[in-house]
Amino acid sequence: MGLVSSLKNLNLNLSDLEEILAEHSIASVTDEQGTIVYANKKFCEISKYPQEELLGQNHRILKSDEHNSDFFTDIWEKITSGNIWVGEIKNRAKDGTFYWVKTTIIPVKDSQGRIKYFVAIRTDVTKEKQMYEKLLQVEQELIQQNLSLAAKVATKSSDIVKNERLATIGTMASRIAHDLKNPLTILHTYADMLTPEILSKLDSKDKEKWFRLQNSIFDMHRIVDDVLDFARTSELNKKKTSFMRILRLSLNNVRSTYGIVIKLPENDITLNCDPRKIEGVMSNLINNAVHALDGQGEIEITLSFDSNNIIILVKDSGPGIPDENMEKIFEPMFTTKNTGTGLGLVICKSIIEQHGGTISVDNNPTTFTIKLPA
Ligand SMILES: Nc1ncnc2c1ncn2[C@@H]1O[C@H](COP(=O)(O)OP(=O)(O)OP(=O)(O)O)[C@@H](O)[C@H]1O
Ligand SMILES: [Mg+2]
Repeated sequence: MGLVSSLKNLNLNLSDLEEILAEHSIASVTDEQGTIVYANKKFCEISKYPQEELLGQNHRILKSDEHNSDFFTDIWEKITSGNIWVGEIKNRAKDGTFYWVKTTIIPVKDSQGRIKYFVAIRTDVTKEKQMYEKLLQVEQELIQQNLSLAAKVATKSSDIVKNERLATIGTMASRIAHDLKNPLTILHTYADMLTPEILSKLDSKDKEKWFRLQNSIFDMHRIVDDVLDFARTSELNKKKTSFMRILRLSLNNVRSTYGIVIKLPENDITLNCDPRKIEGVMSNLINNAVHALDGQGEIEITLSFDSNNIIILVKDSGPGIPDENMEKIFEPMFTTKNTGTGLGLVICKSIIEQHGGTISVDNNPTTFTIKLPA
């Protein structure tokens, strides 16, 4: 015989082995019913039960909610049919805390081959388990972060593309608007100058055509001004001005209010603002409301205050804005009108924000709310 080939040959006695085992492992022995008949010091330490409370008990007293009954049935079937079971179990200690043990359960048979005991040897793997769970959690978090980063990158890139496109359209549009402005002004002025003379020569049918021509020039002028306003965010030219005065002037830019009742505020206030720009805001909001009302209904403009703001409401009794458009109406080029530029509200927003205020919209009834710092 060469080197030592089994523990037997070393003449180690059982109590030496027990001592070694006691130092390293959590060990227990149960009888063939599963009743604990031996538990070593480490078993008592980790389970926090004194030995006398463990002996005579079933292993079930350590059961946690981690495993279902099939899990234990499988173990029981395996070991009662004489096989060794190896696996990890989560147990509950006496004080309610949990611990994980890597477990080997070995059935020990008597000379007739009947199972007498089950010897279980365990190692505490709670720390490893916790680390593993932490790792899984971190992995999940990383996956989530990755996903949300990818989504952010996607929206940012589409924003960039959108902004670039808008910038190009903006440059082109303002160039065209700028070039159209002079010939349009000439058309506008000459048409006004010629009106009395021409009207005296036209019959009523042709008079109507003349007015339509004038209105079209008016429309073109307005659109060109809108585009130019959008392209240049000029400095504010602030002056203390009565809000009612601004509102009255803005009504001059509002057309075809026939059939519509416009209620003005009963109070007034002096605003420190760029009156021409605020006039533009009011006329766009009122024009939008007039358009929505389609010849019938009511527009109400009110003026109020809270501790920090002057609040201007423009309410109309029209059909409102479909939910899916609520977000879009402040975006450039969004319009539901054949002749709209979709710049009106964008310009309103930028002017109000230039004044340090906010503009928002609600339905039922359609209400645009402007808040300007007092
Ligand atoms: N009071 C309102 N009621 C219903 N819809 C409205 C109202 N105000 C604005 N909208 C919707 O918001 C869209 C955008 O308005 P915005 O003033 O920006 O452009 P526009 O009026 O379409 O064009 P433009 O102002 O250049 O003539 C409108 O086309 C319309 O669909
Ligand atoms: Mg508009």
